[in-house]
Amino acid sequence: MSIIADRLGRIKPSPTIAVTNKARELKAAGRDVIGLGAGEPDFDTPDFIKDAAIEAIKAGDTKYTAVDGTPALKDAIIEKFKRDNDLSYDRDQITVGTGGKQVLYNALMASVNPGDEVIIPAPYWVSYPDMVLLAEGAPVIVDCPAENQFKLRAEDLDAAITPKTKWLIFNSPSNPTGGAYSAEELKAITDVLLKHPHVYVMTDDMYEHLVYDGFEFATPAQVEPKLYDRTLTINGVSKSYAMTGWRIGYAGGPKDLIKAMAKVQSQSTSNPSSVSQAAATAALNGDQGFLGERNDAFKARRDLVVKMLNDAVGIDCITPEGAFYVYPSCKGCIGKTTPNGKVIETDEDFVTYLLEDQGVAAVHGEAFGLSPHFRISYATSTEALEEACKRIQTACAALQGEAKAA
Ligand SMILES: Cc1ncc(COP(=O)(O)O)c(C=O)c1O
Repeated sequence: MSIIADRLGRIKPSPTIAVTNKARELKAAGRDVIGLGAGEPDFDTPDFIKDAAIEAIKAGDTKYTAVDGTPALKDAIIEKFKRDNDLSYDRDQITVGTGGKQVLYNALMASVNPGDEVIIPAPYWVSYPDMVLLAEGAPVIVDCPAENQFKLRAEDLDAAITPKTKWLIFNSPSNPTGGAYSAEELKAITDVLLKHPHVYVMTDDMYEHLVYDGFEFATPAQVEPKLYDRTLTINGVSKSYAMTGWRIGYAGGPKDLIKAMAKVQSQSTSNPSSVSQAAATAALNGDQGFLGERNDAFKARRDLVVKMLNDAVGIDCITPEGAFYVYPSCKGCIGKTTPNGKVIETDEDFVTYLLEDQGVAAVHGEAFGLSPHFRISYATSTEALEEACKRIQTACAALQGEAKAA
């Protein structure tokens, strides 16, 4: 009898973490590798946030806190939701967890019964379907191809809803595509949800502040206040504040759900790090001016990467509104042969070729539920991005034969 539980057979390890580890290993072995797999900003956490953490340590904030967040952090989150999203919550409608990831996990564990359906637009963040499976739910994947700008269409959402639907998981700006919904686009989605009062929406707003060209971020409960009681609005400090290692995420939503999520957390991990909570409080209460400066840098990198990828033979790349990812199609490379005589059959073959031939690490689209694509994270230096894109151009130019789709 195996020591491993059956439920583990339903899920796979995170493919994005696997690519990051592989690139790290190759680098450690002396290979010249440019990692474009990691989903984290290359910027450092701002000093005022670090200082708040040091102060907290010195002041003795080193003990257990309330399971789902200190009152100070909850108040900072309440202010943030008011300031940025026009959403009002009381403290008992706010939860804090160890990263946005734990908040999502708690929410699914606390709400999904065996067989409940959870609608996930594809391409999706890799963890959504596996978390639903761990919670014994049934992921219902809705394809959102490039011709729809990778966005969920109202009619496709409507068609996917059944009496068993519990949640729609919504993510804008998106990991992996960078696509973001305007308030108008979002209204079409919330209008469908209004017709189906048994469906809740879990919105993952982790990339809220990473939007470019004057794009205005919008979130479901803001666009459609009638959905307020059916919406869990998830956010965190990891991406916007360059705080991935601090592990703080949070959410606002219905009291009964928030309480149930605290119950899950109380029997698994208890409170997130007290020091990280103090840092996150400072991040949310502090001057938000640096967000705009960093966005200028991200926008310039996005434009560089999109242009250089579109100049590569067989690659087609949409310009997304936000996050720090692009999700180019490699359809024009499928069916071609590498200089080593290997035929590129899938997007996984394509990224393996990029890594082995050119030392560029990207993540294959199949991991995100939409092929043939690959994801590039442009949260790295401009020089590294330029070099990586040149190498991708070289790799594509070296492919022989005709593409299948041509
Ligand atoms: C869409 C999305 N949601 C949630 C998370 C999790 O964030 P955290 O690092 O705060 O757990 C990530 C991180 O990659 C993400 O891309």
